[in-house]
Amino acid sequence: MSSKGTIVVISSLGLVALTAFAAGGSRSEATPSASPAGSASGGLAEASAQDAPPVDQIPRFNDAGELIRPEGWQAWVMVGASIGLSYAEDGGFEPVMEGSAPGMFHNVYMQPWSYRHFRETGEFPEGTMFILAMYEASVNADPARGGWYEDEGFLAEIHLKREDLHESGWGFYGFAGGAESASMIPGEANCYSCHVEETALDNVFVQFYPALRDKLPADSGD
Ligand code: HEC
Repeated sequence: MSSKGTIVVISSLGLVALTAFAAGGSRSEATPSASPAGSASGGLAEASAQDAPPVDQIPRFNDAGELIRPEGWQAWVMVGASIGLSYAEDGGFEPVMEGSAPGMFHNVYMQPWSYRHFRETGEFPEGTMFILAMYEASVNADPARGGWYEDEGFLAEIHLKREDLHESGWGFYGFAGGAESASMIPGEANCYSCHVEETALDNVFVQFYPALRDKLPADSGD
């Protein structure tokens, strides 16, 4: 249903540009049906097959320009996880009580397509999406005698690489309450400043992700 509002253009550089159509807008130039990226015409033939994102890994937008929550992200590459990592500046940090879980698990996923590109080049391609999913830390389920496991969870936030979104080259989207789609968090939010200043590579906390950080340049300092 919603895929028909999106056109995917892949340039000879392998960059992905996405155009969301306004409701009722002209689609006269569009192909009649949403075709998989691999069958679009134009410069695609010049892009290597590996560089072309599978259609289910492409960021999609609805008619209101909101990013649609991707399907199947649980099977993407999980690049790292943390538990109880807190960086709230507003005093929201709760000290860990003895015997209580240290906080929620954070799992970070990215598209398999983008992961392969990063492993080959050390760079994130346009259209990369990172997903931050949060899970309750639970105890006391048989047969565990100690420790915490991941209980109920949800997709909390997406970090999308697209140069027209923000001067950082990325946009943040929050999917609170299980939203199906989200508009971009405004560029003044502290999401952007912390990620610009504190990340080891290209606004992404690569220093915390075991599946990526061996690719950090040797002089990155983290
Ligand atoms: C004070 C610093 C700080 C602020 C502010 C911040 N983050 Fe992050 N963010 C982190 C750290 C540290 C990680 C590492 C992974 C983790 O949290 O487990 C991270 C990871 C992420 C990731 C996973 C991909 C990546 O880029 O590494 C997303 C998505 C994300 N944050 C979204 C947000 C959003 C949305 C906001 C604003 C509402 C935000 N962050 C604000 C520090 C920050």
